[in-house]
Amino acid sequence: MKEKIVVPYAPVLVESTRSIGYSFETAVADIIDNSISADATDIRVCFMSSEPQWLRIEDDGRGMTEAELETAMRYGSRSPGDARSKDDLGRFGLGLKTASLSQCRKLSVMSKRDGRVAAACWDLDYISQTGEWSLQLWSEDEVKNLPGYPFLEAHESGTVVLWQNFDRLQQESANVQATFDEKIDLARKHIALVFHRFLNIEGGRAHVSITFNGDPVKGLDPFLTRHPATQPLADQVLRIKDEVISVKPYILPFASKLSPKDIQSIGGTDDLRQHQGFYIYRNRRLIVWGTWFRLIRQNELGKLARVRVDIPNSLDFIWELDIKKSTASLPSFIKKNLVDIVRNAVGRSEKVYRYRGRNIQKDTLTHIWEPIDKRGAFHYRINRKTPIYDMLTGCMDGKGVFLLESFVKMLEDSFPYADVYYHLAQNEADICRSKSMDFDEVYKIAEQMVQQIRAGGGDLFQFLKTLEQIDFFVNYPEVITKIRERYEDD
Ligand SMILES: Nc1ncnc2c1ncn2[C@@H]1O[C@H](COP(=O)(O)OP(=O)(O)OP(=O)(O)O)[C@@H](O)[C@H]1O
Ligand SMILES: [Mg+2]
Repeated sequence: MKEKIVVPYAPVLVESTRSIGYSFETAVADIIDNSISADATDIRVCFMSSEPQWLRIEDDGRGMTEAELETAMRYGSRSPGDARSKDDLGRFGLGLKTASLSQCRKLSVMSKRDGRVAAACWDLDYISQTGEWSLQLWSEDEVKNLPGYPFLEAHESGTVVLWQNFDRLQQESANVQATFDEKIDLARKHIALVFHRFLNIEGGRAHVSITFNGDPVKGLDPFLTRHPATQPLADQVLRIKDEVISVKPYILPFASKLSPKDIQSIGGTDDLRQHQGFYIYRNRRLIVWGTWFRLIRQNELGKLARVRVDIPNSLDFIWELDIKKSTASLPSFIKKNLVDIVRNAVGRSEKVYRYRGRNIQKDTLTHIWEPIDKRGAFHYRINRKTPIYDMLTGCMDGKGVFLLESFVKMLEDSFPYADVYYHLAQNEADICRSKSMDFDEVYKIAEQMVQQIRAGGGDLFQFLKTLEQIDFFVNYPEVITKIRERYEDD
């Protein structure tokens, strides 16, 4: 048998790798992966959406020497089987080239390391002219005239990736500028989500800043970890060989407890339920989200559960990560394990959530103050299920709900048990009987509630029928009669 070296024909191979399936936003994210892997903390996406469109991604990472840059520009610069450093977001040795050239025909990379700047360029038109893998290199003097040079000049080290000649965009749209702007908008949102743990400071790690034409991107935290009504559950781990997958479930607040800003930050109210599920991170970079792998029905967990799963890059071999790092499938034994962990954790939390002490009220009234027996300790709690409390929180933003809840808890904590006990023992029981509101005040409250029920399409008939079961109104029978007379026929 003889052997022949068959080298791929550059113009054809390069053209076909353009169709791996990158979208604009996943392509930009892939370049930012490289910047983060190079320890950059200042990443700038600069662009011009009018003719001739261009886009630059500049970073202050460690940069590359001329030799390193040449290797980096090679298709398959590193073997996918290589062990990577623990913070490296790369795997295939392809992203820089395939992501960039999926969007444009000309990719230039300038990089500075050890005080020297090198630059190289893949131009698909030039490759097609020469029929070879012809990488163009600039001399150090020529580099000084390239756009992006001022950024490198101002930094000790760093890299600038420049995209030019957006042929696909031109074919796709009659209004290239508007389409380019839309794509930038999508990319911004995508980056806010997939890199949110780099953009928002997390546990002693360096904060990464990403700007779009100077405008900082704010991380979009899908767990609303800072919201007071978010319920983080205990961390869980899944061990695979010597590595650890960390799992942390969160129960999100109901939409009524969220401010418009919170809602925006989780991607809208529809997303609240639809995007339940696992959020899978590889080295803190979000890869796949909003799926239960079809192993849990959307409503099974009842609540608004989102589960953070952290997988280190040393476990890349267990999942089928694709080149774009935008889809990945986990082996079924891991999925099943994850699902078991979550069912357990969320199931248990539901019970904890519901327990909060046993209501020892015997009658059927809706009491404002509920007597609670919490494992033998007796105390009073304000009933959040009273219609007025619901209406109140319904017209508040997240901050308002937080303040109200804090105030109510303070009221509960400072209930003067000893004082009440002392006065009752002294036979001053009548202190409890005095009413602090007059007819008009109570009537106004009842009327307000009627308006709200009407506006919200609620059951007015049921409300009027059960008014005397709310212990606040029970003390004002004349209000109940009057409000019923007034609204009974509506
Ligand atoms: N911004 C950058 N700063 C420093 N080095 C970089 C930068 N971008 C790329 N590199 C170097 O170029 C190499 C090739 O990058 P490329 O994105 O093609 O592959 P990768 O990141 O190794 O793997 P993947 O295909 O999974 O992205 C990287 O491994 C890195 O060494
Ligand atoms: Mg890469």
